[in-house]
Amino acid sequence: MFNLILFGPPGSGKGTQSEKLISKYGLIHLATGDLLRSEIAAQTPLGMEAKSFMDKGELVPDEVVIGMISSALDANPDAGGFLFDGFPRTEAQAEALDKLLKLKKTGIHLMLALEVSESELISRLLNRGKTSGRSDDVNEDIIRARIAEYHKKTSAVADHYRKFDKVKQIKGEGSIEEIFNSLCAEIGRKKSL
Ligand code: AP5
Ligand code: MG
Repeated sequence: MFNLILFGPPGSGKGTQSEKLISKYGLIHLATGDLLRSEIAAQTPLGMEAKSFMDKGELVPDEVVIGMISSALDANPDAGGFLFDGFPRTEAQAEALDKLLKLKKTGIHLMLALEVSESELISRLLNRGKTSGRSDDVNEDIIRARIAEYHKKTSAVADHYRKFDKVKQIKGEGSIEEIFNSLCAEIGRKKSL
């Protein structure tokens, strides 16, 4: 089993790189943002609750996303590994994830953290907002609120895994292929240990 966290601020390329990584390494992609948007599309009570936070660029309560991840882990008992995208985003989520994986006699092997400048993040998300239909991409104030939430609550999650020497920083600017190659190089190094 190989479990990877792809980490980074909003717009850093987690979703883009996840698609390529899951196909190369045969991992199950667990993206809490995507799971929440499916709940919103299906107009479930969970989706409606989540939407009120997401539309403002705020994080959804921990218990909601931890419950979703717990169900998704249980739904994939034969997975060769998981790629977590956009989760964990708080210390409480990181601790819950570690416990859930421990129950399955596994853990996080590596966190790859994409580094992208704030001006580049804003320009990527405003650009995507022209066509994505994502309510949190449409204006710069909400995008800035998402980035502020990242600095306030999420960036410290890397420190949690740094304590166990599991974090590698990756330059997240450049071509999608260049960044993918840097990510694969780190995964290769980890897997050969
Ligand atoms: P989520 O869906 O996770 O969004 P996010 O983290 O804010 O970031 P994005 O998905 O927008 O960016 P990304 O890093 O995936 O980049 P992408 O590849 O798309 O979360 C949304 C909301 O859900 C949160 O605000 C919160 O409310 C809630 N939520 C989700 N998880 C939660 C959790 N665990 N706890 C609590 N609440 C939670 O790329 C962005 C754009 O850039 C794309 O247009 C792409 O084409 C482009 N791009 C990618 N790579 C490059 C490149 N190398 N060069 C140029 N452009 C590029
Ligand atoms: Mg994403």
